[in-house]
Formats: sequence, C-alpha cells, structure tokens
Amino acid sequence: MDTLAPDAPPAALLAAALAARERAYAPYSRFAVGAALIDEHGRVHAGCNVENAAYPEGLCAEAVALGQLVLGGGTRVTAVLVAADSARPVTPCGGCRQKLREFAGDETPVWSADTRRVTARHTLAGLLPASFGPEQLAPPR
Ligand code: THU
Repeated sequence: MDTLAPDAPPAALLAAALAARERAYAPYSRFAVGAALIDEHGRVHAGCNVENAAYPEGLCAEAVALGQLVLGGGTRVTAVLVAADSARPVTPCGGCRQKLREFAGDETPVWSADTRRVTARHTLAGLLPASFGPEQLAPPR
C-alpha cells in the first residue's frame, strides 16, 4: 500500500522533477519520467529518461539525476522524487533503487508524483530492504 506521510517534499523538488520530465527522450515507450534529488548541501539535481533504439541501453531518469548530482559535487542523496504520468505512483525500478542506495540512507524519502502533485512516499529501505551497499565491501576483522 502506498503511504502519504503528512510531511511534504520541498516544492522545488517537485518543480525540478516536473521540469526535467518535460525534457524526457522517450520516443519508444512514450513514458516520460523526471527525477529530482537533493544532495547534502541542499542542492537539487534533476534528470529525465533517455531512451535508445537499442532498447536496453536507455537510461532511467534517476540514473541521469544521480550523474548530475555527482558531477555537481554531491556525495549524498537526502531526498528523491520521481514524476510520471501514471494512475499508479511510479517508484524507481530495481536497478535505480540500487543506484540510489550507494548515496542514500535507509530512511531517505522517495516521493512519487504525477504531473501535478505528490502521490506517494516511501523510504529507500522500504523499497530495497536488506540491501547491499559499500559497507558490505569491508573485509571481516
Ligand atoms: N523509467 C524511469 O526513467 N524511471 C522509473 O522510475 C521508471 C521507468 C523509464 C525507463 C523507460 O525509459 C520508461 O520509463 C518506461 O519504462
């Protein structure tokens, strides 16, 4: 069940995801997605999906936004918002959940929105429980 917590994401996060969605390159699926992230400095980074004629080579909006965050000097993700025109809230795909896991914490909020408003709120750990991350790479003592 999708849950909407009483707290809301910053308006700038929704606005950035919606603006990014307008730039989506999605000629094959016709499913435009925008994603926006907040980094540890409070900066917002956005991305859209970028599809490819070789279908599996397409990029999700979240992956593009993560690239923007890293390029912009961010090292942590403190909030995520994904916007798409869908009757059901769109959450990051499995691969993107893992990509986000690298930079986000268990309690990092992951918001879903349609083309106008927020429709769901999850946490990263709720979407990706018992996840694998950089900590697991540490050798045993
Ligand atoms: N897509 C995203 O960009 N993010 C998501 O969270 C879900 C799916 C894209 C991938 C593909 O370009 C299109 O949406 C349809 O799956």
